Amino acid sequence: AAYDAGEHESFMHKEILEQPAAAERVLRGRLDDRFATGHLGGLNLDARELRAIRRVKVLGCGSAYYVGQMGAELLEDLARVPADAEAASEFRYRNPIIEPDTLYVAVSQSGETIDTLLAVQEIRRKGGYVIGLVNVVGSAIAREVDGGIYLHAGPEVAVASTKALTNMFLGFAMLALQLGRVRDLSIADGRRLIAGLEALPRKIEEILATEEQLEAVAERLAEAESLFFVGRVRGFPVAREGAQKFKEISYRHAEAYQTSELKHGPLALINPDVPTVAIVPDDELVERNVAALHEIAARGGPLVVVTHEEVSLEGLPDEGVERIVVPRSERELDPILLTVPLQLLAYHAAKRLGHDIDKPRNLAKSVTVE
Ligand code: G6P
Repeated sequence: AAYDAGEHESFMHKEILEQPAAAERVLRGRLDDRFATGHLGGLNLDARELRAIRRVKVLGCGSAYYVGQMGAELLEDLARVPADAEAASEFRYRNPIIEPDTLYVAVSQSGETIDTLLAVQEIRRKGGYVIGLVNVVGSAIAREVDGGIYLHAGPEVAVASTKALTNMFLGFAMLALQLGRVRDLSIADGRRLIAGLEALPRKIEEILATEEQLEAVAERLAEAESLFFVGRVRGFPVAREGAQKFKEISYRHAEAYQTSELKHGPLALINPDVPTVAIVPDDELVERNVAALHEIAARGGPLVVVTHEEVSLEGLPDEGVERIVVPRSERELDPILLTVPLQLLAYHAAKRLGHDIDKPRNLAKSVTVE
């Protein structure tokens, strides 16, 4: 049958709800329990070649860039290999140094984004090794790379990427597992991650079941002219992606910031008309993150706190503070669960404002001219 929105009012909504099934597809057959590692045949790299990697550079545009930041964080954390992400649209214009022992990772849903494709070509021209995290089979980027991981998210129609992005994250998690297990990641940690990955689709479902609460919060956020999304370390790319989605479809000004940097500038802008969506997982930074919430509340700033059950918000005012609880996973995998409610916040804000959710103004699903 043709892919249509069916009983859903938009493709974006349908695609958000498809995430548990899509996540299962990307994981299927790619986790190796016996050796507690990833089983990614398409990388075309044997253990010796994987071990020789000294650095990882991730490239993508838009949401693919932000999930690339989440992925780089995961890779550095689990495989202990220096990793970072860069906007593919900027990369080749600064005459980048291409190193033979760097693994380049191009991330793209469509596989047709020209900025990402040109970055891949620049790397290969200089002799670098590039793998793709691509959804569309046989697309330009998929054909150009040395190896890769297909995302199996199925067709994605809405301009704002949801299920493809989730599968990109899972692709990174499996890559980090496989890279980690030829280096210093223990078998116990490998098993812990595999169990965490296998449990993710059900946890995404739990978040989707809270849609009514998210809708109510989104309708209030839609009234604001301007918002902040804040997070730290693993939570910062989550905030960036949350702000991106929100501005793409609601046309509200949404700015992502490191929570730690608020006091170095934008705290001056916090007031009762400027809400902040704060990413506050129960991790090693929780106390500092909660302290920042107090700073925001003290200036009358409304708060939406995306957090875990265990995190106490005691002492914050009842009024103007919304708590959105997501199930926890392994700390390395938490970012993707923290991202899912932000999709529904953006979606319901845009819906409230009466916008064309699947085709926001001035944007294209894939940008094929530079
Ligand atoms: C466009 C879309 C974004 C998307 C980006 C990358 O700008 O509007 O939503 O994240 O392209 O697309 P890709 O297909 O390369 O993942």
